[in-house]
Amino acid sequence: MRILLHIDDIEAWRDALAERLPEAEIVTADDPAEQRRDADYLAVWKPSETLLREQTRARGIVNLGAGVDALLNNPALPKGVPIVKLRDAGMSELIGDYVRYGVLHFQRDFDRYRRQQTRHEWREHGVVEKRDWPVGVLGLGAIGSKVAAMVAADGFPVHGWSRSPKSFDGITCHHGDAGLTELLGQVRTLVLLLPGTSATRHIIDAEALAKLPEGASLINPGRGSLIDEAALLESLGEGVNEGRLRGVLLDAFPEEPLPEDSPLWSHPRIWVTPHMAGPTPLGEAVDQVAEAIRAFEAGEELETVDPEAGY
Ligand code: GLV
Repeated sequence: MRILLHIDDIEAWRDALAERLPEAEIVTADDPAEQRRDADYLAVWKPSETLLREQTRARGIVNLGAGVDALLNNPALPKGVPIVKLRDAGMSELIGDYVRYGVLHFQRDFDRYRRQQTRHEWREHGVVEKRDWPVGVLGLGAIGSKVAAMVAADGFPVHGWSRSPKSFDGITCHHGDAGLTELLGQVRTLVLLLPGTSATRHIIDAEALAKLPEGASLINPGRGSLIDEAALLESLGEGVNEGRLRGVLLDAFPEEPLPEDSPLWSHPRIWVTPHMAGPTPLGEAVDQVAEAIRAFEAGEELETVDPEAGY
């Protein structure tokens, strides 16, 4: 059995996968084309078109990340091959910490204090209590639901939203278009953890932003395509004075790396991080890859990606 493995930090991944699947021949982009072609399984993160085009007899694909948008948008993706994606695999804890940091950043006024520091201004703001700081999480999949639970465990009222109805203890769940409007109207910090699909593209547009309470903040560790960037900048307003939107913490962008000339870099109320909120952790992820490949081999039922839905 030949497995094409493609991800950063390839040597550590190759060793870890070889340990779990000693019978497999693991090939990578560094191997000669004739050796790496026609693998039985692909375990890949953002493979190039060239790499995918060489694969004509794959029986299963494991996406080495939570979001399958990049893979599904690759024109060389072999048709009709079942795709499995990583589920949580330790990512949600990392993303949860990123979000908890972001929520506290705004709730405890670190953004304001940073701006005051540049002016050498000593001024204390009264604390808005956690119970008066509702947080909204859009997307209640493996990652969103765990992140919502982590924020709720910190003492914030949490509202979650998904396209279809879901329910989780301790989270006020909303769904559908009406549910989205309901949620947007009452959250002080909005967190985006939806998959990047045609249905979620620009879900945060001018209309959605206008539904948020005055002074709301936004955290996007999900996908850049979720936000209409022009509407975001408009809602933020210019300079250090808070607009309708107080501040934004962004980890995902429509084009990555974020282009050097993007206005997002230098806006004083936008924090940019380089898609670092939820790197794929090796251990649990490799376990899931090995498990998926064994299940493919055994012809077992697997929870696969729906290419039409995009997740
Ligand atoms: C990262 O963005 C992922 O989808 O795993």
